[in-house]
Amino acid sequence: MNKPSEDIKDRLDIAELIQEYIPLKKAGANYKACCPFHNEKTPSLMVSVDKQIWHCFGCSKGGDIFAFVMEMEGLEFIDALKMLARKAGVQLRAPANPEQQSKRSKLLEILELTTEFFHQSLLKSKAGQAARDYLKTRQVSEESITNFKLGYSPNLWDALSNFLHQKGFQDRDILDAGLIIKRENKSGFYDRFRHRLMFPIADGQGNIVGFGGRIMPGPDEDQGAKYINSPQTMLYDKSRILYALDKAKSEMRRLDYAVIVEGYMDALASHQAGVKNVVASSGTALTLEQINLIKRYTSNVILAFDMDLAGNEAAKRGIDIALAQGLNVKVAIMPEGMDPDDCVRKNPKLWQKTLREAKAIMEFYFTTTFQDLDFSLVADKKKATAALIPVIANLTDEVEKAHYIQKLAQKLAVTEDILHDYLAKVKTQATFETGRGQAPEIEAPLKKNKNELFSTQLLSLAFNFPNSLEIIIPAIDEKHIHPSLQEVYAELKKYYTENRSEFQFTKFLEKLKSKNEKAAEQTAVVELYLQKDMLPEDFSSADVITETEQSIANLQKSWLQQQMKQLQTEIKQAEEVKNQSALEKLTEEFNKFSDQLAQIN
Ligand code: UTP
Ligand code: MN
Repeated sequence: MNKPSEDIKDRLDIAELIQEYIPLKKAGANYKACCPFHNEKTPSLMVSVDKQIWHCFGCSKGGDIFAFVMEMEGLEFIDALKMLARKAGVQLRAPANPEQQSKRSKLLEILELTTEFFHQSLLKSKAGQAARDYLKTRQVSEESITNFKLGYSPNLWDALSNFLHQKGFQDRDILDAGLIIKRENKSGFYDRFRHRLMFPIADGQGNIVGFGGRIMPGPDEDQGAKYINSPQTMLYDKSRILYALDKAKSEMRRLDYAVIVEGYMDALASHQAGVKNVVASSGTALTLEQINLIKRYTSNVILAFDMDLAGNEAAKRGIDIALAQGLNVKVAIMPEGMDPDDCVRKNPKLWQKTLREAKAIMEFYFTTTFQDLDFSLVADKKKATAALIPVIANLTDEVEKAHYIQKLAQKLAVTEDILHDYLAKVKTQATFETGRGQAPEIEAPLKKNKNELFSTQLLSLAFNFPNSLEIIIPAIDEKHIHPSLQEVYAELKKYYTENRSEFQFTKFLEKLKSKNEKAAEQTAVVELYLQKDMLPEDFSSADVITETEQSIANLQKSWLQQQMKQLQTEIKQAEEVKNQSALEKLTEEFNKFSDQLAQIN
């Protein structure tokens, strides 16, 4: 019998799966795409349908469907397996021993049971009546209650813990799921969520990872926070969560834009009204992680916040991140005093209209800034400049910058030059809020070193044009090749020498596979690098030779440079300990390499 992971691979098509996350472009028999794991403008991620693998030549990430989903969704292997098994309709055997379940799956199970517990307590319990009534007054339909699995947490210190204990869970795990709190100065725990309307919070796949609990209406409504949320846990990191993403993602892709609202109620109300490309940021400023989640589905967003965006620094930072990540940002101007939920409740058409009339972010900044200013006053001109120049400075596109400078100059009746001077003085604000206090990498460094890159390049030429081995073999030793590919090269050299006249790449691969699975895998990756389909159409055999010679030179050069660097360190050490004989030997070697390098150049 096949391993379940093999069954899954057989049933799912890698291109289709990856296409669910990022747009793929056909490249001959393969596909290519801009890699979602580092920032890039030209595609270097390749997907091979026959080999059912993917590989990014920019950041070196790659593997099979499981590796992709693990990377994309931040999952452990076991969870990626489960997710794809579900998708493929493959039955996984339950683990023999629950103790062996990973901590993560245990916490997920706790949260799922808890969701059901709160949900039943809302639907059925006597105490849940008040919450049911409240939802009626908010016009939340029964369908939405089911769809969003809303719940009610009983007004007791231990209702949930008792339930979970009965199900066989320990306090340790319930605590790690964020559901209980340790008593101060005493032993024991108490339930975090009591007498609240519960909003289960799911990740993009619909796994419940946390909760938001709204205070119930009543005399105490002003006491305590309106919402209590799960603390940071192994599963729940608020900077990486968008509420309702699991329900919104397919619509976001279909309509090619996403609407971001602030509140749980806002997202729910919009979905209920049939506008389903809506997620909630849950009251925090947008983070880089949230932006990246959205970018998987669309690059257009409408922000529908009821807070004062222009005056809110945290919100502005969120917008800056979105702009820096290349999203098109629009702002929906909410009818006075309304949040999206109010707006939907008043009239779903009003909500749709508000979204339709959303303004491009720069237009929005301009309008809001000019609203209360009087341009006959110098002081107000200064105010407008101070407000808008930093925003213009943050734009990534130079044409756009020029456009808005011109617009502002006209408005203020000053020359553009003056504003350009201002612009030059404003340093682009780089205060990114990533939720973890570090700046995002705008252009991720290439992880492959030169030696690895050139080795890949050369081997891919060899695979695609075996004749090139005639010049490669005499010029390149195994030592020149990057360690991760040395084995492949050694096998190739041997096989080519023995089967020169009838060398066939597929035969070589079969032979290698039967001998060495790992090397075979690396070979497949290398082969992807320079698919014939990727080459210009008029790539001739003369081009192959030029290309191969260039590639050999690159590799030799990078190898020599590496050796010389190493020798330099050794020479320094020898000098320090005044080891004359070693020094002479090392210097001689260094000079030899240096001559060789000069010959290549
Ligand atoms: P709002 O105060 O706008 O709440 O906060 P809301 O979602 O519109 O709820 P209703 O309509 O008053 O019932 C927006 C979001 O900010 C977060 C929650 O995610 C909330 O949905 N928030 C707000 C908190 O986390 N804690 C709070 O105390 C308040
Ligand atoms: Mn509200």
